[in-house]
Amino acid sequence: MHNLTVADLNPAVLNVQYAVRGELAIKAEDLRNKLEAGHDLPFKRVINSNIGNPQQKGLDQPPLTFTRQVAALMEYPPLIDLVKDKWPSDVVDRARELQEAIGSIGAYSHSKGVPYIRKSVAKFIEERDGYPSDPEDIFLTAGASAGVSLLLNVLITPHQTGILIPIPQYPLYTATLAQFSGTPLPYHLSEPDGWSTSLHEVEAAIEEGTKKGVKPRALVIINPGNPTGSLLDLETMESVVRLCEKHSLVLLADEVYQFNLHSPETHPFHSFKYVVRKLNSPIQLVSYHSISKGVKGECGRRGGYFECTNFDEDVKAVLYKMVSVGLCPPLSGQIGVDSMVRPPKSGQPSYPLYKQETDAIHSALAQRTKLMAERLNSLPGVSCVQSPGALYLYPKLELPQSVVDAANKIGKTPDTLYALELLDETGICVVPGSGFGQKEGESHYRLTCLCPGVEEYVTALEEFHKKFIAKYGGL
Ligand SMILES: Cc1ncc(COP(=O)(O)O)c(C=O)c1O
Repeated sequence: MHNLTVADLNPAVLNVQYAVRGELAIKAEDLRNKLEAGHDLPFKRVINSNIGNPQQKGLDQPPLTFTRQVAALMEYPPLIDLVKDKWPSDVVDRARELQEAIGSIGAYSHSKGVPYIRKSVAKFIEERDGYPSDPEDIFLTAGASAGVSLLLNVLITPHQTGILIPIPQYPLYTATLAQFSGTPLPYHLSEPDGWSTSLHEVEAAIEEGTKKGVKPRALVIINPGNPTGSLLDLETMESVVRLCEKHSLVLLADEVYQFNLHSPETHPFHSFKYVVRKLNSPIQLVSYHSISKGVKGECGRRGGYFECTNFDEDVKAVLYKMVSVGLCPPLSGQIGVDSMVRPPKSGQPSYPLYKQETDAIHSALAQRTKLMAERLNSLPGVSCVQSPGALYLYPKLELPQSVVDAANKIGKTPDTLYALELLDETGICVVPGSGFGQKEGESHYRLTCLCPGVEEYVTALEEFHKKFIAKYGGL
């Protein structure tokens, strides 16, 4: 009898790395348990600035009332009779309408998602972009991750398929590429231009790949960016689309942060769908959205969608076949998507509370982002791009050579050493830049702007930074 060992497992799976839930997150959990068990640590609480999970314990972004009321009535239809005179009438109407379209949420739905909800998604896209959207081009998913995984799975062939990914990137992409044995073709984002996409860098990555016999098949763009918080302007987006035309690249547009804008009047979001239609471009585009981010933050419900633009019917049929294997996305996530694309409108009974709740989330995020970037920028050896969108900041650290030497000695990167000491001394958990990728010799870390009590932990972070630099001999 031979017991299964790691060496018996699929080597592609063993190559998968996922820093957001890696060493730092595990250590943070351990420290939290120690605090709960009464251990004496140099801090009173662990601050999870490592993950964009707004409703997580300790971050505590409240769920939107409208979303949860509709969800509750879908979970337990007899509740309608108990609340119909107490809850807003638009909640009850929405739940009745969805119950009529779906029936019980305990049943499998259509594999691409409930047709009624896909129609709502198409209408949302049309209103956002001013161009038509076909519900048949929309696939509801268990979060954006499931859609990314599906597309990478079908795009990667055994013949050295190159996928252009931004550096820094959200590690879902490198992890999924490792899983399906695709070849990442990394291109660097431009930090001096607010982490914008540099066409020159993408061209260089294509050339590099081609030299090695890797055929570039798709280009991943994350906009607004994770971990950078960047936001692309229209001109850059148009040149990205032209570049995809030139190289016949499928554009994978990860737009899960499209509602997280800190100054939408001066920095608006444009979707790639809008740009592709405006340019009348034939490129194949897959656009992702999710209920995990934005103001909903319903990460645990697992809901999202992708829209395919300019795809051949037979390619869409393959996607349909593949989603059928998984039967259907979770119904609770699909209902979350419906509430996201059809929020209460001005004049409806739920609107005043919805507006109050979402304004509070937007303004807290914008304030924290601004304050944290300002304070980080005033620290010696730290520079931080002020981010116009998403939930993150990605400061750059200038570290003395002695930090690099000390890190080498323990087999870690300098930014990991920094993040580990930060966690040990302040309880603040961030993700080292090496988890997202960065230029050789550079050090960054990502912190989220979701934690309440920003003043307190930014002060702790400042004190730590100064002590850390002094301890290693100064800059
Ligand atoms: C850029 C990006 N894409 C996709 C995801 C995954 O989202 P979901 O929870 O919808 O799978 C995340 C999550 O943090 C993300 O940052």
